Amino acid sequence: MSKSAKLILGENEIELPIIEGTESEKAVDISKLRGQTGFITFDNGLGNTGACLSNITFIDGEKGILKHRGYLIENLCEKSSFLEVSSLLYTGKLPSKTELENLKNQIKEKSTIPEGIKKLIKSFPQDAHPMGITSSAMVALSGHYPHLLDQDLSDQQKEELFPLMLGQLKTIAAAVYRHGQGKDFIESNPELDYTADFLYMMNGDKPSDAVAKALDVLLILHADHEQNCSASTVRVVGSSKANLFASISAGIDALWGPLHGGANQAVLEMLDAIQKDGGGYEKFISKAKDKEDPFRLMGFGHRVYKNFDPRAKVIKGYCDEILEKLNVEDPLLDIAKGLETTALSDEYFAKRKLFPNVDFYSGIIYKALGIPTNMFTVMFALGRQPGWMAQWKEMLEAEGMRITRPRQIYQGKTDEKL
Ligand code: CMC
Repeated sequence: MSKSAKLILGENEIELPIIEGTESEKAVDISKLRGQTGFITFDNGLGNTGACLSNITFIDGEKGILKHRGYLIENLCEKSSFLEVSSLLYTGKLPSKTELENLKNQIKEKSTIPEGIKKLIKSFPQDAHPMGITSSAMVALSGHYPHLLDQDLSDQQKEELFPLMLGQLKTIAAAVYRHGQGKDFIESNPELDYTADFLYMMNGDKPSDAVAKALDVLLILHADHEQNCSASTVRVVGSSKANLFASISAGIDALWGPLHGGANQAVLEMLDAIQKDGGGYEKFISKAKDKEDPFRLMGFGHRVYKNFDPRAKVIKGYCDEILEKLNVEDPLLDIAKGLETTALSDEYFAKRKLFPNVDFYSGIIYKALGIPTNMFTVMFALGRQPGWMAQWKEMLEAEGMRITRPRQIYQGKTDEKL
């Protein structure tokens, strides 16, 4: 294939370079377009825009493939732990046994949050949404680690930030949960691994291996997803050289929305509503298809996946297994399965290539683990943090890194007189 594309604009013809990725995706490089022609591009929702070159995550939405640093997500879920995948994302390679032990020890040392952060969490109303508290606690950490706020961080500072952020968010998330329950905070237990410690700080009991493993897999499934809304937010905020705490806090805010990470909470609320309505999901499918009705089938559809979401496949497989292991029978699982089958055989969803996404079944597992609905998106944030950090680091280290500053096509009034 030719290494350039031709663009004809009126009388002018210009050549635009073509960039090819390692998995054969192709892009037309328009970075000199405005300088050469005065034109910019318009791409609502940026669905056709490659905002960066990246080595972290590859998605083939047509084939339902997700890989981190070349490893298939299914294999990582089966053979690796959340901390191994986190390290893979941030450093570019799977850790050796010694490196993993070092990381675990460093995280354990960083799993106590400052007293000021505890006070901040307690200052929120008990029924405040956990995502708002988590985001506030995250940006407030900047006040406690001033030596990590430099505009240009050294490699050593970036190394220090990784276990610190993993340790702090784990403890913040558990404390936010305890606050919502009106309970005292529990200190981290250094004898436990990352996910088991998080569950211990939430519930005060050492979780069974099956429960800890189930949550670990859920965290892996959420660990990164290339240039989604929150990762793009982290990159945009970080591109102004704002500190990492501010960038991650902004990512948490972006994730909160129901079209993004907040969908996991919305799915369970929808399944609950269907159950209360008598369990007939056909009515909800009709509502989702009605263009006059703003209702959407939550947990369905994806900007990139147009065949199936591989994360949803793994979760669905785990769902039955986990409910059985935990001896939990949840009628919402039957509603979810019925809803899925009906929607998949409906022309509306088939034509638009709408399939269950990662959020469709994750809430049922969180619920079985005893996690309240309004904490679901915090669980997503806990899983996504290593991905955000990897995206942020790659962005800062990219050759020719510039502040992100898109343009617009002005459509407002002109020449108003006072
Ligand atoms: N229910 C009903 N119709 C839908 C849905 C849905 N869940 N999703 C998309 N559509 C329709 C939409 O109305 C449009 O129809 P038409 O062509 O007739 O106007 C068409 O499908 C294309 O939708 P779109 O809004 O252009 O698609 P998008 O790529 O901009 O949005 C999405 C992707 C995920 C925001 C959207 O599918 C959605 O709102 N889904 C429900 C929320 C959800 O589950 N979000 C979690 C995403 S996965 C986790 C994550 O990574 O954040």
